[in-house]
Formats: sequence, structure tokens, C-alpha cells
Amino acid sequence: MADKKHKVEFFSHEKIETSNTLMIVLVLIVLLFGALVEIVPLFFQHSTTQPVAGLKPYTALQLAGRDVYLREGCYNCHSQMIRPFRSETLRYGHYSMAGEFVYDHPFQWGSKRTGPDLHRVGGKYSDEWHRAHLLNPRDVVPESNMPAYTWLETSTVDAAGMAPRMKALRIVGVPYSDAEIAAAAEAVKGKTELDAVIAYLQVLGTAVK
Ligand code: HEC
Repeated sequence: MADKKHKVEFFSHEKIETSNTLMIVLVLIVLLFGALVEIVPLFFQHSTTQPVAGLKPYTALQLAGRDVYLREGCYNCHSQMIRPFRSETLRYGHYSMAGEFVYDHPFQWGSKRTGPDLHRVGGKYSDEWHRAHLLNPRDVVPESNMPAYTWLETSTVDAAGMAPRMKALRIVGVPYSDAEIAAAAEAVKGKTELDAVIAYLQVLGTAVK
């Protein structure tokens, strides 16, 4: 009785917790399984893969504006994802839904908010307000620390580049028609990057009322 042998069973706590290798392998298996269960169903779930009713692909001008948004790094200070909390929905409007972003490649969700979330900024201000704000934010919001983007007013949109962009997006599932692609260059001709980014901001989040 007194000399009861200390026996280490295969897969006992002691065995796992005293072996780095076994611990690492088992942790990886658990994580992998968890990830599969959490993530894989989303690829097949209608609400995450199908556009919400009323969602339209960006027009050529809006798309050009979206590229300006990416190039200028607006996402470094602005998220585009309203979380389903009262504090957020009271401030910004309806929380963001996955089906609103199916034409966004890549999406601009983010979590860094030096400035406010922009997902439902569409229609909140006039084009003129945006124009003044982008050229010098302090003119309309005196305490703003957002940078001014004066050069957008003088640079014109790369009209010839729009058709290839739209074709690339079509490959990843954005339903642009041949006619829309053919008309893209004409649609943005002579427009400034400021016009484009305003067109983009004005459509954000407007598919859901
Ligand atoms: C350095 C951080 C920073 C960057 C970069 C930035 N912003 Fe802002 N933005 C802010 C802050 C702070 C505010 C709030 C004060 C204000 O309205 O100016 C704001 C406000 C806004 C608003 C008004 C939102 C509302 O609901 O009132 C819009 C629209 C906007 N930004 C667009 C842009 C765009 C487009 C870009 C890129 C071209 C950009 N911002 C880049 C910080 C930034």
C-alpha cells in the first residue's frame, strides 16, 4: 500500500503538461478544430455571401473615389463597421451587415477610429460640405485634426484605368456588365479625385435604410 507506484498514463494531465511537444501539438489540433467550426460555415451562409437587397456595385466614379480613399490611407483614422451596440447605432445608424460588403475588395472595416466611423456617412452631408471639409477640415469643424487633402481638387481621375479595374473586380464576383465597363472611361472623364471621393462617401452605407 505504502509503495504504490506512481504511474503516468498515456494522455494523463501530467503527461501532457510536462511535455512541450505534446502540449503544442494538442493545442494546435484544438485551435484548428475551433477555427474550422467557426469559419467554414460562413462560406456557405447566405447572409454573409449574398448582397443585401438594394446593394449596387460602385459606379466608375465611386470606384475611383474608393481607390483615392485607399491611396490616401483614410482607413488609418476611419473604420467602416458599425458594431451592434446601442452606443454605436444611436450615433451612426443601423449596424453594419456582412451582405453590405460583398462588392468591397478589400473591405474597409477596420477598428482604428481617430475620426468617426464612415460606414453610414452617405447622405449625411451635402457634396459642398464634403468639398469644404476635405480641402480644409477646420473650415467646417474648427476642432478637427483631420489632414487637408487639397491636391484632390487638382488631380483628375485616371479614366483609362477604370475599365481594367472593373474587369478585375468582375473576376472576383462584382457583377459589372460589358456596357458598364465600356462606358467607364467616359463616365469619369474630366472628374477630379475630389469629385470621385465625394461620390464614394455619398454612397457609403446607403443600401440599408
Ligand atoms: C489623421 C486622421 C484622419 C485621416 C487620415 C482622415 N481623417 Fe477624416 N476625420 C478625422 C477626424 C478626427 C474627424 C472628426 C472631425 C472632423 O469632422 O473633421 C474626421 C471626419 C471625417 C468625416 C466626417 C464624418 C462625420 O460623420 O462627421 C469624413 C466624411 C471624413 N473624415 C473623411 C475622410 C476621408 C475621405 C479621408 C481620406 C482622404 C480622411 N477622412 C482621412 C480624422 C482623419
